[in-house]
Order: sequence, then C-alpha cells, then structure tokens
Amino acid sequence: MGNSELYITEDGSHSIFSQEYGVSYHSKFGAFTETQHVFINASLRFKAVLQKNISILEIGFGTGLNALVTFFEAKKRNLEIKYVGVEAYPISVEQAKELNYSSFLDLEINPDIFLQLHEISWNSPVQLTNQFKIEKVKKKFESIDYNNHFDIIYFDAFAPEAQPELWNEEMMRKMYNALLPDGILVTYCAKGVVKRTMKKVGFTVEALPGPPGKREMTRAMKILSL
Ligand SMILES: C[S@@+](CC[C@H](N)C(=O)[O-])C[C@H]1O[C@@H](n2cnc3c(N)ncnc32)[C@H](O)[C@@H]1O
Repeated sequence: MGNSELYITEDGSHSIFSQEYGVSYHSKFGAFTETQHVFINASLRFKAVLQKNISILEIGFGTGLNALVTFFEAKKRNLEIKYVGVEAYPISVEQAKELNYSSFLDLEINPDIFLQLHEISWNSPVQLTNQFKIEKVKKKFESIDYNNHFDIIYFDAFAPEAQPELWNEEMMRKMYNALLPDGILVTYCAKGVVKRTMKKVGFTVEALPGPPGKREMTRAMKILSL
C-alpha cells in the first residue's frame, strides 16, 4: 500500500497504518467496532430518533468505512442521507479492494456498494440509491467553508498529535459554522484541550463512553440560545 500498511484490528476488520503520519486510520481494538460506536451509535442513531432526512459531513473519508456503515444504517432505518466525505489524500480503488468491510454487513441487495463508494468520481454528487446521496470532495478541509449545512459531522481526522492543524480553534469554528442549529459533531478524541477548544467556539460538549480501548469519546452540539 505504498506509504501505508494494511493490518487486521482486534474485531477482525482491516485498517491502514499510515507511515507518513505514524498513526492508524482506526482503533487497533477494532475498526468496525469503532465506527459503529463513535459515528453511528453516538450521532446517526441519536439524530434518527428525531428526523429521517439527515445530512452528514465526514472529515477524512479515508477507507470509506464510515460511509459504508452509514449507507447500511440508512437502509435499515429508512433514512434519507446526504453525505459529503472530504478527503485530502484518497486511497486508491486497488487499496480499497483489499479491505474486508463488506463482510461485516449484510449488503445482500447492494453487494458492490463499498467498491462503488470508491469508484465514483470526486467532486460531483452521486445519488447512489433513493436513500443515499454522496459527494466525495477531494480537498483539504482547511480550504472549504460550509455554512449552516449539516446535521452531523463525523470528525475523523488523524489524532491531534499527528495533525494539530486540524484541531485548532479556527478548524473548530469552521466545523461549528458548517453545522445547522442542533447539529452534532462526534469524534473518537476525548483530549481535554480539544474539548476546551470546542467549548470556546460555542459547542456544548459531552464526554461519552468510548469504544473498546478508549475510556471516553466526545459529542459536541451546536445549541443556539434563544
Ligand atoms: C483517521 S483517518 C480516518 C479515515 C476514515 N474516516 C476511515 O474510516 O478510513 C484520517 C483521514 O483524514 C485524511 N486527511 C488528512 N489530512 C486531511 C485534511 N487536511 N483534509 C481532509 N482530509 C485529511 C487522511 O488522508 C485520512 O484518510
């Protein structure tokens, strides 16, 4: 995989170790389990209680695992998802073919969906099914500005130690602005400094139990005062 290596995490799902950043794309305790816990259970299922049309911004599309599980969840819960996945350094379709994520989901009706997520063009929206529209945006998140646009942000950049430029006050404000009122941001990261920066730009911040191997994760909400 060029500058990165495929390995198997503890729940049997693959991840990639980035030599360049010196970190893994997912938790070594389980990539699939982490996605389900942090991104699906703590944000998508939480929002789906209130609404069926949900717009999601993912920062760090990477392997496409979060998008795949979101696609599955939309089908299962009859949601309509608009998904924007921002990625500065995409993996290749050949790399994606090596990943074993489809075997973790019952994708009977859409067996090729994971590959499709990788094969679709960058920077143009694609309606993959009635329930799932996606645009993959090949850019650095720093260069993009969204305003009042998303119900959910999956903030899945590499850790603050590996890329501090994505965890500073400016980026947190950018994410706050990108969310609609009552929008929520979730991240696997539970560092004190990150939570303080989130509060500083206006987020209401909660610590939730983390996935295996992590005591806590963070959910931050854009709650506007009257
Ligand atoms: C922790 S990995 C997670 C990726 C993905 N969510 C997954 O499940 O595979 C972080 C991702 O952020 C991407 N990335 C790094 N810097 C970025 C930037 N400035 N803007 C957008 N994406 C970036 C990396 O290339 C990598 O794919």
